[in-house]
Amino acid sequence: MFGPYERQISEAYRSIYVNVDEYVAGISKWVPNARRILEVGCGEGAVSERLAAVYPDAEIIGIDIAPNVGRLYSGPPGRVRFVQATIEQYHATAPGEFDLVVLADVLHHVPLQLRASLLDAIRKMIAPGGHLAFKEWERNRTPIHWLGYFSDRWITGDRISYMSRDELHQSIAQSFGRDSIIAEQRVRPWRNNLSLLVRP
Ligand SMILES: C[S@@+](CC[C@H](N)C(=O)[O-])C[C@H]1O[C@@H](n2cnc3c(N)ncnc32)[C@H](O)[C@@H]1O
Repeated sequence: MFGPYERQISEAYRSIYVNVDEYVAGISKWVPNARRILEVGCGEGAVSERLAAVYPDAEIIGIDIAPNVGRLYSGPPGRVRFVQATIEQYHATAPGEFDLVVLADVLHHVPLQLRASLLDAIRKMIAPGGHLAFKEWERNRTPIHWLGYFSDRWITGDRISYMSRDELHQSIAQSFGRDSIIAEQRVRPWRNNLSLLVRP
């Protein structure tokens, strides 16, 4: 619909809700030496592009179930390999371990009954000593939450459902262990952006 301006408009829209640069910079401070990175649910590549910039020596793979995987990526060519696959399909064809797996703003798109199996599949792909960088939009009663909910619902058409901070912590604890969350931070411009560092 927006032709050549699509990327700029997509970035401007996203920036209403989250500062993606600040988010990825936070990950790189938490996990400075990642060499093999998997982004699950990478979408059109906004986070992957920043990962390529802050981890110039890492091998980066972005997977997504949607056909538009990596479509708006405009980082250095060849720095991220994009694959359309579920994590189970990807694991079956390219089993391997990653020292950093990133899951950003994906869980609220996944049906409730499938969330635990997605997180379990991710755990199996993290190398010993590796990390999951997990980000979600926290549900609360603020106007920005409802604006985000309705725009996400309208734009993606998915039956999204957000979780509270406690629910997010519980889900992570169930799949990765009780003390697996080792750091937590909020990402501007809204406190709803909850970023967790998880070590299984
Ligand atoms: C809001 S977008 C986030 C994209 C990207 N992580 C980012 O932050 O720029 C959510 C993405 O999750 C993907 N997704 C939903 N369920 C998924 C699943 N089970 N496995 C992989 N990707 C999934 C959707 O196709 C969509 O591209």
